[in-house]
Amino acid sequence: MYDRRTDALRDWYATQARDLPWRVPPGSDTVPDPYRIWLSEVMLQQTTVAAVKAYFARFTTLWPTVRDLAAAEDTDVMAAWAGLGYYARARNLLKCARAVVADHDGQFPESETDLLTLPGIGPYTAAAIASIAFQTRAVVVDGNVERVMARLGAIETPLPAAKPQIRVLADLLTPDERPGDHAQAVMDLGATICTPKSPACFLCPLRDDCAALKLDIAECLPRKMPK
Ligand code: ADE
Repeated sequence: MYDRRTDALRDWYATQARDLPWRVPPGSDTVPDPYRIWLSEVMLQQTTVAAVKAYFARFTTLWPTVRDLAAAEDTDVMAAWAGLGYYARARNLLKCARAVVADHDGQFPESETDLLTLPGIGPYTAAAIASIAFQTRAVVVDGNVERVMARLGAIETPLPAAKPQIRVLADLLTPDERPGDHAQAVMDLGATICTPKSPACFLCPLRDDCAALKLDIAECLPRKMPK
């Protein structure tokens, strides 16, 4: 038995999940390809879903597997990345692909701890890959998740000090069953309904459980420490 908020999210995601090129549909028995999950998560750092789609399609056409990418010329990869920005991500992408081939026989490791040893994979990406690609329970926290949790729990502590409290709530809501669908449900909710400005609370599957909505402060959260 989980928190009813977890159930509400699962039911919402079952019908409202965004159709994204690297995703398997919610509840599907299809196994996601870890290479495609990794590639999409690296591209989605600091870049919107809309912008990533075309780059993802180009990369997976040019280099359908991690072995293909590892064997690519640096200049070809940098050229294909042009426009996505943050070029250190592209350099790490190649380093990571080569490490997966050289040190892991071309298979992404499954645990968060092992994923964290790879170039360009930090705590968020390791948790996202472990849960989405390998269905391992991991607590996935990005900016969208922080906003959803801060509102759900009416966490008034400003960021970044609120991070530990946010993580406790995110952990509490993460199920053992299909943790990857759960993580993506929270991210989709943050991207489409629980938006930074003018959240569409009337459409939210968590509206009856949202502490910030009850206090009418959803749009004010998360608070941020003045710089
Ligand atoms: N943003 C980053 N990763 C995502 C994912 N897997 N689904 C939706 N939004 C995301």
